[in-house]
Formats: sequence, structure tokens, C-alpha cells
Amino acid sequence: MGNPQGNFLTAIDVGSAKTCALIAEITDAGLRYRGHGVADSRGSRKGVIVELDKAVASIQKAVEAAEDLAKAPVEHAIVGIGGAHVRGVNSHGGISLGTRPREIGRDEIKQAVERARAIPLPADREILHLLPQEFILDDQPGVHDPLGMMAARLEVRVHLVTAATSATQNVITAVNKAGVHVDDTVFEPLAAADSVLRADERELGVCLADIGAGSTELIVFQQGAVAWTGVVPVGGDHFTSDLSVGLCTPLSEAEKIKRVYGNAIVTLIPEGNEVEVPSVGDRPSRLLPQRLVGEILEPRARELCEMMRDALRQSGMYEVCLAGVVLTGGASRLPGIFDVAESVLRRAVRLSWPAPLAKMPSTLSEPEFATLLGMINYGQRARIARGLQETRWGTRLKAMLVGA
Ligand SMILES: Nc1ncnc2c1ncn2[C@@H]1O[C@H](COP(=O)(O)OP(=O)(O)OP(=O)(O)O)[C@@H](O)[C@H]1O
Ligand SMILES: [Mg+2]
Repeated sequence: MGNPQGNFLTAIDVGSAKTCALIAEITDAGLRYRGHGVADSRGSRKGVIVELDKAVASIQKAVEAAEDLAKAPVEHAIVGIGGAHVRGVNSHGGISLGTRPREIGRDEIKQAVERARAIPLPADREILHLLPQEFILDDQPGVHDPLGMMAARLEVRVHLVTAATSATQNVITAVNKAGVHVDDTVFEPLAAADSVLRADERELGVCLADIGAGSTELIVFQQGAVAWTGVVPVGGDHFTSDLSVGLCTPLSEAEKIKRVYGNAIVTLIPEGNEVEVPSVGDRPSRLLPQRLVGEILEPRARELCEMMRDALRQSGMYEVCLAGVVLTGGASRLPGIFDVAESVLRRAVRLSWPAPLAKMPSTLSEPEFATLLGMINYGQRARIARGLQETRWGTRLKAMLVGA
């Protein structure tokens, strides 16, 4: 931001359905809302830019609306990265400090973390996040910050989030072409977690599912740290296209019907209700039973929840989620999806609304803005951490430890 005190933070979320920007001011009393803008996403699909010029135009529209409200220009921003190209992998590394225990300094922590990040990566992938899970001092696990402690051997377990370099670079290029410098990138559900998860949930073990338009991103926390991340390639747009095909209606009409009459549990829709469904071409619209809408949506909701369950089981994370599953993202607003998730996942499920910023309009307190709001919180923590530790790995490390 072109703010003389550098007191503003901007976040940009280039989603599959909407592109949005949020400007917050850092005050002594905490973060304060200053402006936001939302534009329909054009040129991006499932976290990947497919038409650069259209994506740039959407970003510009969202940023300009936010600038108008904040009455200040946006020059820098933190930007979200998501989609099926993102992968998470656990790694560990360690160093010997000698035959006798000695004090652990920043250099030793850095060396251990560097060993953990040194995994072979294909040329077209890059590390988006390096998230420490725990340090192990000799045989003592569960250490969050080993600085100043004594040990003969220092090991660290980390979760690495990797992304396709081209996909990440194209989002950065689009934001740059919209006239904004990218200060940092963040995996979207990691940001969303900042605005919707509680500390006790992260400690006990919880899965956050961000059900967006193109995909559902999963992140599991245990003992305050990221244990696993994953992506399921189904989102709200799959529900819409099922309705479009099943009811033989244009996508735009299917989207409206989903939002107004949709329910993922057929039996929650009163028998006898009817819905007017526009046809394609010149044919007249038809009156169809509302339950037909549920009959189309319910199998898709079950499929999505089964894919989430299978992903958690295959990664050994199902047992970890003792505090259950938290749903966020625009598609989590579909009535009945909560019930389907509880019955398929057999875990406590809750819907989530992001924690608001001071002075923020209530329209932003919706699940589809959890990522955007979380990015502002993440950006603020990274800023604080940068003051403590200048190196890039240190920023990530400290940001994680502060949040744990
Ligand atoms: N009331 C509602 N009922 C059902 N679905 C809804 C409702 N409101 C929004 N959605 C769906 O939520 C999806 C958009 O969610 P969101 O804004 O979180 O996506 P995005 O961030 O743009 O996409 P992604 O995260 O996949 O890149 C769309 O598929 C939309 O149809
Ligand atoms: Mg999203």
C-alpha cells in the first residue's frame, strides 16, 4: 500500500468463482477493515490461470473497488495459492551437535530445517510452505522452539507444501500485471484456518475442508501444527453442472436453483414443492418437483464427502481428527451438506464463519471469505515474525510457531 506508515495489509484471493481483495489497517487495537472488492473470476479455473488477460481484469476490478473504499492505492499484497496442483508431504532432517549436549542456536535450527527441506523435487515444482511440526532433542520429541535448549542431536519434522511452479508463477504474473507487487504467497486453506479454527481444535486434531467452486482443499492440524494437506478435485461447480445436465437448464439457472432450492438431503425437501426450471433453447420453462433438485445434489455431496473420508483414511489422518471436521468455503453453504458430512465422515462436523475484522461489513462474514480474511491474519503474523527473523525460512518457521 502507498501508506506512509506502511500500516496497511492487502490480501488477494483469485478463486475459481470469485476474485476478491481486502485491505486492512494495522492499528494498536488490532486489524481494522478499510475496504474490499469482489469480481466474478474470469480466466482462472481450479486454481490455474487459463486466460491471463481476463484474470488480470478480474483482479484489477476487485482491487480498484477495494482502493475506492479504502481511499488508498494498493501496491503490495499477499496472494492465495490453491487447486489440485498443490501437494503436501512430510519430511524430517537432523544434525549432530557433537558428542556432548550443547546449546542450540539459530544456526543449528536453520541447518536442521534445511536438511528436512532437502527432498528431491521435480523441476516444475516448488516449496510453498515449510511448516515445522516438532523438534526432537536427542530422544525428546514434541519441542516447539528449541532455541537455547541443550542437546547432542537436533531433529525436526516438517510438513512441506509444494505447488506447480508455473501455476504459482501465473497467479503472481496476473497480480503483477494488475499493478500489484506480491509480497508473499499462502496455501489457501492454511490461510482459511487462521480465520476459522480454534486453538483447542488445532491442538486436539482437526480437519478443515475449504469447499470452493473448483476443488475442496483439506488441511489437518494436530498438536498445533500442520500434519497433512490435500486436495479433492470436486467443488461447488460440480454440483451446479450436475443440476444443469440433470434438469436440462443453463448453468447460470442451475446455479440460481442450487442456491435458492438446493439441499443435499432429499428428505429435508417438503414433498409436493415445485420449482420453475428454465429450459435451454426456445422451449418453455417447466415446473418440476423440488425433490428432483435434492436427488441430483445428494449423490454428489456423498461422493465429495466419501472422497474426503478416503483421502483422510489413506493418509492416516482419519484417526487424528478427534475434534472433527470444519467446513468452510462457498459451497459449504449448501443446506444439508453438514448432515451428509456427519453421516459419511462419522466425525463431529461444524460449519464455520470467519472471525470478522473491526468495522468490517457483515457481508464479508461468510464462509466464502474465510480464505481472504485468513490471509490478512497470516500476513500480519508473517510481518511480526519478519521483525524477529529476517531469513525466508525463519519467517515461515516463526509464523508457524506464533500461530501454533
Ligand atoms: N448458498 C449457496 N448454496 C450452495 N452453494 C453455494 C452457495 N453460495 C455459494 N455457493 C457455491 O460456492 C462456490 C464458490 O465458493 P467460493 O467462493 O469459496 O469459491 P472460490 O474461492 O472462488 O473457488 P476455489 O476456492 O475453488 O478456487 C460456487 O460453486 C457456488 O455455487
Ligand atoms: Mg477459495
